[in-house]
Amino acid sequence: MKTVLSKRFFPSVLFILNLCVRSTLTRTIATTSNLIQKRLYDDTDPVTCQIYCYGPLLHTVQMARLYKDSKTFVDMKLKNRPEETMEDYNAFMAKRNNSPTEAEIRDFVDTHFEERGKEFEPWIPDDWKEHPSFLDAINDPDLRQWGADLNGIWKELGRKMIDDVHKNPEFYSIIPVDHPVIVPGGRFIEFYYWDSYWIIRGLLYSEMFDTARGMIENFLSIVQRFGFIPNGGRVYYSKRSQPPLLTAMVHAYVEFTKDYSFAIDALDILEHEFEYWMNNHTVQVKGYDVAIYKDASTGPRPESYSEDVISSSDFSTDEEKEHHYSELKAGAESGMDFSARWFIHENGTNDGNLTNLKTRSIVPVELNAILYWNAKMIAEFHDKAGNKAKSAEYELKAAKILEAIQAVHWNEEAGVWLDYDMINQKPRNYFVPTNLAPLWTGAYNRNDSEKISASVLKYIDDLKLDSYPGGVPNTLAQTGEQWDFPNVWPPMQYLLVVGLDNLGTVEAKNLSKKWGYRWVKSNFEAYKQTQTMFEKYDALRFGGHGGGGEYEVQKGFGWSNGVIVEFLTKYGGELSLSNSAVPTVSKNTIFSLTVALVISLFGTLLGQALW
Ligand SMILES: *[C@@H]1O[C@H](CO)[C@@H](O)[C@H](O)[C@H]1NC(C)=O
Ligand SMILES: *[C@@H]1O[C@H](CO)[C@@H](O)[C@H](O)[C@H]1NC(C)=O
Ligand SMILES: *[C@@H]1O[C@H](CO)[C@@H](O)[C@H](O)[C@H]1NC(C)=O
Ligand SMILES: *[C@@H]1O[C@H](CO)[C@@H](O)[C@H](O)[C@H]1NC(C)=O
Ligand SMILES: *[C@@H]1O[C@H](CO)[C@@H](O)[C@H](O)[C@H]1NC(C)=O
Repeated sequence: MKTVLSKRFFPSVLFILNLCVRSTLTRTIATTSNLIQKRLYDDTDPVTCQIYCYGPLLHTVQMARLYKDSKTFVDMKLKNRPEETMEDYNAFMAKRNNSPTEAEIRDFVDTHFEERGKEFEPWIPDDWKEHPSFLDAINDPDLRQWGADLNGIWKELGRKMIDDVHKNPEFYSIIPVDHPVIVPGGRFIEFYYWDSYWIIRGLLYSEMFDTARGMIENFLSIVQRFGFIPNGGRVYYSKRSQPPLLTAMVHAYVEFTKDYSFAIDALDILEHEFEYWMNNHTVQVKGYDVAIYKDASTGPRPESYSEDVISSSDFSTDEEKEHHYSELKAGAESGMDFSARWFIHENGTNDGNLTNLKTRSIVPVELNAILYWNAKMIAEFHDKAGNKAKSAEYELKAAKILEAIQAVHWNEEAGVWLDYDMINQKPRNYFVPTNLAPLWTGAYNRNDSEKISASVLKYIDDLKLDSYPGGVPNTLAQTGEQWDFPNVWPPMQYLLVVGLDNLGTVEAKNLSKKWGYRWVKSNFEAYKQTQTMFEKYDALRFGGHGGGGEYEVQKGFGWSNGVIVEFLTKYGGELSLSNSAVPTVSKNTIFSLTVALVISLFGTLLGQALW
């Protein structure tokens, strides 16, 4: 399959549709098939890609650096059809002898493009609730008010595409979807793939089941159109994905709603996405198939075009530059753009800068751990559907991935899982929270829990990861990149807290709670001071927010809010702002102590009476 729905795939969708007698399966597919019929431009590269993804117009405008943020231009709506715009552009360049001034380029853009953000209208979710019940479980009044505030922010982050996007999609870089979405916020005014996992969980805790389901249905339809889910909802993201969490979104939805039929009906699509990763993203290491991040386009990232051209200027040949662009885009696919995690220096370390990016040569722990999880969940859904053979098939796929994770990633010496460097054929012993990702997705042998717990806790202790007042940093390398020290990212704190909790030993659960409490309190402190939820935070400062990287720190913010809503639900009964970050005596304990005291008093009195 091509990245964009191929001619061969289109009839096969209709074929599936005809075959499909299971009534409910048709819901998603029918909507999608309407979309497909309306939008045949998707059949090859969208024609808008000539403007927004690559080509001379993009180059001219982006290299003029008209806007502070390169993403601004590629989000602007066309005033005329793309073909007309290209003709005008060619005439414009000819007239200006192929070297227009900055002012002339600005003028061209002003006459041919609208301001960004024209594709959406603000949208208040129909299913938004003033008082979801998670609020009742929060004892501390300030935390409860904060929970209510966060619940209110969903209304600000809701976006619905205007009808014109569906009628005239070629005027927009946005990928049309049927249902409104909750976006991350800030410069991210469209949906993003992995962000949506934590957003959807937050929506589920906020009892916004229709909005959550709509977002998942959008993704299902996108897999049918593109063969996988692009990084975000723009055509210029359409050749790279992000950590594959669609199946986990469906699983979360089903956990909350018990609507297993939703998952069963989505199975074909979930399998399709899983197979895409297993067929199109794997390499062989030590005789095992393992997945890596990569990208299928050429050229710089359209949304960070001049930045990429500049960082490629250290390379002399076009071929080297092209490789560099691929490493940048693979880094973007990982979600961790950028980080020393993806640097391989000539001397085999993680030293260097963006020119040392070797994302495609590093086998990432979490990607394989997530794929294991996907196979397990697909097996579970097949089991619910009564399809034992398919369930067994996916259990087998999961077992194979687990074997690969143990062979390629588990590192007995370090006592944890590590990324693998294919160039130097060695593990990369550098801290990233994703080194613990198998704990989050269950990608380890449960019989080894005690042993793994001891070694992982020792690893955490050796690296002093518990010593940071603002949360666990993403790496220990200080490069100025945004996924490096001292930045702390909500999805990674979530992975650590949930992973340690899943591990199940007393010690791991204890640390999980300590880090969970700390995260809630530190985010609250930042909120109290600024009335803002940030995209990332600062490990070194309790209540501090993050910075660095290619753009200003963003506010909003979808995944931050999702994680806190979940943690408030989880800890709200016991956590108060006055108690220390270390779990102390909880209300439950006080209750049990009181009961014990009463019983023992009663016992004593009874004993005396019997005397
Ligand atoms: C996946 O790989 C296959 C086989 O190499 C290729 O035909 C197909 O286009 C790829 N799919 C996507 C969505 O890139
Ligand atoms: C690798 O190279 C970097 C940059 O030159 C240097 O700072 C570092 O010490 C080197 N490390 C090793 C182990 O050689
Ligand atoms: C990145 O590293 C390369 C190789 O060491 C060096 O030539 C280049 O100047 C560095 N770039 C920046 C922006 O520091
Ligand atoms: C875990 O231990 C149980 C009981 O000893 C055993 O039956 C099972 O096969 C073990 N599982 C794995 C994956 O090793
Ligand atoms: C839990 O953690 C606290 C400090 O964080 C420690 O004092 C206590 O001993 C731990 N309890 C267990 C059972 O590990």
